[in-house]
Amino acid sequence: MNGGAEGGANERKSVSARSAAEGIGPASAGPISSHAPSRWRTALVTGASSGLGASLAKRLAAGGAEVALCARRAELLEELAAEIRSAGGKARIYPADLSDPVATQALVRRVDDELGGLDLVIANAGIGVTRWAGKLDWEAIAPTVDLDVSGAVATLTAVLPRMVERKRGHIVGISSLAGYRGMPRSAAYSASKAFLAVFLESLRVDLRGTGVTVTDVRPGFVRTPLIDANPYPMPFLLEVEDATERMIRGIEQGKAVVAFPWPLATIVRLSRLVPASLYDRVMGGLRTR
Ligand SMILES: NC(=O)c1ccc[n+]([C@@H]2O[C@H](COP(=O)([O-])OP(=O)(O)OC[C@H]3O[C@@H](n4cnc5c(N)ncnc54)[C@H](OP(=O)(O)O)[C@@H]3O)[C@@H](O)[C@H]2O)c1
Repeated sequence: MNGGAEGGANERKSVSARSAAEGIGPASAGPISSHAPSRWRTALVTGASSGLGASLAKRLAAGGAEVALCARRAELLEELAAEIRSAGGKARIYPADLSDPVATQALVRRVDDELGGLDLVIANAGIGVTRWAGKLDWEAIAPTVDLDVSGAVATLTAVLPRMVERKRGHIVGISSLAGYRGMPRSAAYSASKAFLAVFLESLRVDLRGTGVTVTDVRPGFVRTPLIDANPYPMPFLLEVEDATERMIRGIEQGKAVVAFPWPLATIVRLSRLVPASLYDRVMGGLRTR
């Protein structure tokens, strides 16, 4: 649900590096198993070097899609691609820093060209910073906005006109239950996920009848390197494989919004009805400096 380690993106990088060293990268996303053929011939998954992205990519490849794997850590992408290929699947790697939106758009268009048209684009790469507002500065916030907002939007829109022209395609953004309301010590993360959710909603409204499907996936807490360092309780925590199956099922059904697990999704949805004065008092009591 929430993401990031106290201290910002640089410290998060070290969490990721540690996770890779401990084997929490692609290998932790579970074995490749056979699945019913997916409805996509080609798919791009960003943030595929770890956690949910690695697991989604494996699952799509097991269903027969040729997957383009994108993230910064090339060696983890190569490992995952090798694992997919040895299981009989097809994968190509595209190492890149997606926090540059102009370069990201060019990359996604290149992938579209090289794979003969993308059927599915999943903007999954994301980071977060958990920090009390009184200690926030732009330096801490910017990496989250650059990747979770600019990078995601650039990924989702890069080949959208082409999909509309082809009258088919599916774009998916991984937002979060943390985007329903402002979570304590998560201003940049919560707000970036709220932006993404509303952006996807507008796209959905506009794209009705074009043949292009838009899905907003809003997970609760999933055990990945992203939440390794979270200092607070994480109710209804899911394992990556379980979360992946829920995501794939919802995306395959062409759902507008896939929010899970349902008890937490219901609580956060209902929390929107709580007036600001009460919300601030209750949530303010949860934060620690
Ligand atoms: N885990 C949860 O509880 C949870 C809950 C709700 C939503 N989510 C969302 O799910 C998505 C995946 O998160 P996760 O939990 O799977 O975390 P994760 O294991 O830390 O994976 C994050 C991925 O993003 C990539 N990434 C980070 N910075 C990047 C950059 N500048 N350019 C390109 N790729 C970059 C990372 O790869 P490199 O470091 O190799 O670049 C990694 O593959 C995120 O959008 C997150 O907000 C997670």
